[in-house]
Amino acid sequence: MLQFPFALFLLGILSSPFALSYPDVYILNATLPMPITYTSAQYVGGNQIYILGGVTSSSTKLDTVYCFNITDESFTLVGHLPGEVYTGGSAYIPSEDVILYMGGGFRVPDLIRISLNHSEDTISSTIEGNIGNNDLMFTRVAWDSTRRQGYILGKPYYENPGQGFYLYDPAIENVQERLQLISGVWPGDVANVASFYDSVTDKVYFLGGIRWEGSVSLDTIYAWDPTNETLTLLEEHLPYSDTDGNLIWDQETGTAWMFHDSTMWPVLMFFKPTTREVGSIHLEHFMEYSAIRFGMAWVPELRRIYMFGENHEEWWLYATDRIQYIQL
Ligand SMILES: *[C@@H]1O[C@H](CO)[C@@H](O)[C@H](O)[C@H]1NC(C)=O
Ligand SMILES: *[C@@H]1O[C@H](CO)[C@@H](O)[C@H](O)[C@H]1NC(C)=O
Ligand SMILES: *[C@@H]1O[C@H](CO)[C@@H](O)[C@H](O)[C@H]1NC(C)=O
Ligand SMILES: *[C@@H]1O[C@H](CO)[C@@H](O)[C@H](O)[C@H]1NC(C)=O
Repeated sequence: MLQFPFALFLLGILSSPFALSYPDVYILNATLPMPITYTSAQYVGGNQIYILGGVTSSSTKLDTVYCFNITDESFTLVGHLPGEVYTGGSAYIPSEDVILYMGGGFRVPDLIRISLNHSEDTISSTIEGNIGNNDLMFTRVAWDSTRRQGYILGKPYYENPGQGFYLYDPAIENVQERLQLISGVWPGDVANVASFYDSVTDKVYFLGGIRWEGSVSLDTIYAWDPTNETLTLLEEHLPYSDTDGNLIWDQETGTAWMFHDSTMWPVLMFFKPTTREVGSIHLEHFMEYSAIRFGMAWVPELRRIYMFGENHEEWWLYATDRIQYIQL
């Protein structure tokens, strides 16, 4: 298995985009229980990945939570969410064995806190906070493990401009007040902005996305400083503007990996917050199954990025039951 520094070394000596065959992409024979797009996935340890919500190829919206066993590649339906969700974002909190899911549904706009019960293969969920008739879509969730708070960014309902950025603080006693709007920070409404928290630099990073007004694809990287609550636009830019927000955070190497499907070829972009390095690696073996709106989960023990479902331009036509992974 090639290690990350070696990949960078390869990147340095091979500038031709088609020369790289690293990293490898594997397509499983096992498939999802049904074709799904716009789903969200979280690795929860113990060789288990949870797959939350999504949309089927017949445009049916899902409230399902499936558990995927990496070892035998089987699926178990572990429960249902309090509403149908798709395009929303999630984060796993290991210390509490809880998945947070927010946005991506008209009936469940607030934050869903999903408690896992591994021994029984079941879940239970509660709805926290009250953001009113906001209908956040295309959200992503980042968990600040230092302060034990979550950040949610998504596109608010048309009639509520500027109401897409929230802080989730589970320590607040009144459940209704745990979600707090942070207004006046983002210059406009944005969708699908990938995010993660890095404890070394102690910042939340926001990468790419779409500025909703005018449909502008972004290559921007913002850093949110939780200590003084300021958002700073970094000088560094992503190699490609990205509108899909598929990111995983590899804490061990301090690297955020973003899947990006350019019109020419699929790539993995990377950003290292400590050194502020940005770059990309072409995925030569991904061409046939090029995709954007899947659920993506990082399995650190295996150094694999799992991707569930897929689609091309017209998501309602191209939901599939495909599962694949990128071996880093
Ligand atoms: C996957 O399917 C291919 C083609 O049918 C087959 O050759 C291969 O043995 C299968 N792999 C596993 C692990 O079942
Ligand atoms: C996953 O599958 C393996 C092999 O069948 C099994 O030993 C293990 O118990 C399963 N894990 C869970 C959490 O069900
Ligand atoms: C898991 O579910 C079982 C059965 O409802 C219950 O007895 C057990 O306490 C639950 N475990 C956790 C960690 O919630
Ligand atoms: C917030 O803190 C950062 C350092 O983390 C600093 O660069 C920035 O100037 C501070 N902003 C304000 C408004 O104090």
